[in-house]
Amino acid sequence: MERILITGAAGQIGRTLHRGLAGRYKLLRLADIRPVTANGPAEEAIECDVTDPTALAAAMRGVDCVVHLAGVPREGPWEAILPNNIIGTYNTFEAARRNGVRRVIFASSNHVIGYYRTTQRAGIDVLPRPDSRYGVSKVFGEAIGRLYADKHGLSVACLRIGSFRERPEDERQLATWVSPRDMVELVRCAIEAPEFHYLVLYGVSANARARWDNPAAARIGFVPRDNAEDYANEVAGKAPPAGDPAAEFHGGSFCALEWTGDARRID
Ligand SMILES: NC(=O)c1ccc[n+]([C@@H]2O[C@H](COP(=O)([O-])OP(=O)(O)OC[C@H]3O[C@@H](n4cnc5c(N)ncnc54)[C@H](O)[C@@H]3O)[C@@H](O)[C@H]2O)c1
Repeated sequence: MERILITGAAGQIGRTLHRGLAGRYKLLRLADIRPVTANGPAEEAIECDVTDPTALAAAMRGVDCVVHLAGVPREGPWEAILPNNIIGTYNTFEAARRNGVRRVIFASSNHVIGYYRTTQRAGIDVLPRPDSRYGVSKVFGEAIGRLYADKHGLSVACLRIGSFRERPEDERQLATWVSPRDMVELVRCAIEAPEFHYLVLYGVSANARARWDNPAAARIGFVPRDNAEDYANEVAGKAPPAGDPAAEFHGGSFCALEWTGDARRID
């Protein structure tokens, strides 16, 4: 994998990958609807809206591997989630297929399993349990990834990213945090791993309180180095009260948004 396209490259994770992967590949093409700056001859910056198939086709030209980050990174109105996350992700996989891209790395989210209880661990073999329209859009992305792997032979990795932050900001993130350097390492491993068909991985640091089983990490050689526990004192007490849906389920505050449910019915 020598020619890499990053969609959503102007965002938080995109900028971190840009810095962390600079100089590793023959080409790093950085695409976003916002401005991005390319540094040096091995980088290109392009304006590309993933809702626009024509722009995406141009962005894919000559690319071996796409890291697809573009979209709304939190809960939002359907009118924003549908075009940017669902149609944009469909367009990205379809443009990748049409242009002979070999691998797509999709920025999924832990919010695909948000309504599992925090008393249970979650692996990659549980049924989806999204906690938001945003989470549903990531379930869609994982499904379209599976389809394009099986039907069209693309190599696909779906990264269920936890909480990407400089440092954990509350008690939940002691379980869900992924540090910038572990995020870069995860994407590097997903780009460079020898041939695989379809993988789902959690994007999480080596947190002592991690609740997600991540068997595919070894498959691509991903060994996280940071541990949120080092910041436990800083965030002690920063947690919703027991009984609040934000405290009961893996998805945290997303589970409490617009909540009109009955927690007793969620096994
Ligand atoms: N940050 C986290 O903790 C986290 C956790 C789980 C998953 N993710 C996923 O990782 C990805 C990147 O997240 P982030 O935190 O860097 O978010 P971000 O908002 O900082 O970056 C997203 C980028 O996508 C761009 N974008 C939005 N719509 C677009 C479109 N239609 N066409 C092209 N570009 C578009 C934005 O301009 C932005 O630069 C997202 O898909 C997000 O859902 C992030």
